[in-house]
Amino acid sequence: MNFILFGPPGAGKGTQGALLAERFDFLRLSTGDMLREALAAGTQLGLEARKFMAAGELVPDTVILGMVRDVMASPAARAGVVFDGFPRTTAQAEGLGDLLRDLGTKLDAVLVLDVEDEELVRRLAGRVACPNCGAVYNRFTDPPRSEDTCDRCGGTLVQREDDREDTVRRRLHVYREQTAPVLAFYEAAGVPVHHIAGDRPVEEVQRELARHIGR
Ligand code: AP5
Repeated sequence: MNFILFGPPGAGKGTQGALLAERFDFLRLSTGDMLREALAAGTQLGLEARKFMAAGELVPDTVILGMVRDVMASPAARAGVVFDGFPRTTAQAEGLGDLLRDLGTKLDAVLVLDVEDEELVRRLAGRVACPNCGAVYNRFTDPPRSEDTCDRCGGTLVQREDDREDTVRRRLHVYREQTAPVLAFYEAAGVPVHHIAGDRPVEEVQRELARHIGR
């Protein structure tokens, strides 16, 4: 099964995608995580992407599609993929369609996490993550046991550069203008699109997502 976790910044795509991947053995493909890894490794791709990410703008489609193509060619993708934060433009959705067709597979569903803007801003203001192991916390809703220290590996937690309120508001605008129209693309293509209320406890949202993918 291949499906997309769709929704605005802070809706919970990463949180839910990680749980689904762990529980049901999917490959989680997060273009945001891949870009941050490239940036941390100091690659040319990471350095090019940084200016777009820091400004809350989208990284060019050709860069994103190249990264996704490489991952989809790996054996790990055959178990099924949960796409997190991709596709974000209609051109990316078309590129994904071509890619899946070439691989002899298809997209099964788009699962949309709906959350109000003010809650998204609040969540992102409280988000901290561990640069060592990738664990994500929230100072308001899911704090680490000891402030600024990762429960899992003891790393020092950091706030993402693009989680400053002005950048978050820009990301929300970009989502509405460039990403939300992707839903109409899938509806027109006959791919099932399910809306899920994302403003509920993590486990409740997880149960509903699992139900939609028949688990
Ligand atoms: P990306 O990393 O994909 O960011 P995003 O889509 O903006 O989403 P976030 O990671 O901010 O939020 P999320 O929905 O995963 O929420 P999370 O689970 O962490 O992209 C970053 C940038 O990279 C983009 O702006 C762009 O520049 C570039 N980029 C990436 N992909 C691209 C693409 N395909 N094309 C072009 N450019 C691309 O949760 C947020 C917080 O809320 C956490 O603290 C969490 O603990 C908490 N939380 C989660 N669920 C709940 C809940 N149910 N209740 C309470 N708190 C919750």
